[in-house]
Amino acid sequence: MQVISLEDSRVMMLDQTLLPGEERVIVCEDTECIAEAIESLRIRGAPALGIAAAFAMAQTALKSRGKPREEVLQRLRETHARIKATRPTAVNLHAALDRVMKSAEESQDAAEAAVREAMRIYEEEQEASRRLCEHGAGLIKDGDVILTHCNTGALATATLGTALGVIVTAWRQGKKLRVFADETRPLLQGARLTAWELVKAGIPVTVIADGSAGYVMRTQGVTKVIVGADRIAMNGDTANKIGTYSLAVLAREHGAEFYIAAPLSTVDPGIESGEEIPVERRSREELEFFNGRRIVPEQAEVLNLAFDVTPAEYITGIITEAGVLRPPYEESLRRALGV
Ligand code: MRU
Repeated sequence: MQVISLEDSRVMMLDQTLLPGEERVIVCEDTECIAEAIESLRIRGAPALGIAAAFAMAQTALKSRGKPREEVLQRLRETHARIKATRPTAVNLHAALDRVMKSAEESQDAAEAAVREAMRIYEEEQEASRRLCEHGAGLIKDGDVILTHCNTGALATATLGTALGVIVTAWRQGKKLRVFADETRPLLQGARLTAWELVKAGIPVTVIADGSAGYVMRTQGVTKVIVGADRIAMNGDTANKIGTYSLAVLAREHGAEFYIAAPLSTVDPGIESGEEIPVERRSREELEFFNGRRIVPEQAEVLNLAFDVTPAEYITGIITEAGVLRPPYEESLRRALGV
């Protein structure tokens, strides 16, 4: 499945808002098109957003080749600013923009350096995903009953995945699993995207309403909850799709292990605790309407938080390409990042 690619200076993306009904590729010729795709979640998921941001910079660089260096840098700064303003929580997007900008600024051939750095980000994500899936699959035992949330597979990473990649890898190793996927209101990444990916891979999945997670844990013998991350603070506090925190609290109550699976590119070394993580608020329309039909009275207030932050104390382990990190995360994250 080709989630995103850069061909000449065109960025192609599978439009995730249309799944599972339709597989349509959109072709972006400019920054505005990529920004709109990110804002409307045609492309989404922290690592995939990092790659989309890197490709937006590469596209601008490719279109600016042959121009004076200062002009190339100016155009890259404009792309950087536009893409940075799209979504605040997934750190991969911001880190990728900064990395590409920095390498362009440090090179005499700014355009060439930007393209090279963007491709390096893409390759690093592939390798990190492959390794973290191996480490994560090692945790999974025959008979595990796993609950996951949102979508953390190929669609969210343009690679194998994070939490879902771990599940798929364990399944391919022949482990016998049961998988429950939260539907993930309001945009249904679990029902539409996770279920679609698992069905396509031939892996049985049971979709549940978000509100049933506690009772499913109690009655179906859930042994592990595995989810992804959008930003991890240096103390291990983790931002992920809204509803994740509730799952962590429920997992503790029901004796299930609670794992975060994320590449180290999702760790923000500039943030000490989850309190500093910016949580995206999205439009009220996403909650107000279902299938184009109003389901909330106009007079009601709506709080549409896209993410929440799970305190590190609820997290059994963080599955990364450097291995499964354990508390205290202040130490294990520093060691893994080498800072
Ligand atoms: O709003 P989204 O769909 O971009 O949110 C995505 C998530 O919260 C994922 O769980 C997270 O990015 C991990 S992706 C491997």
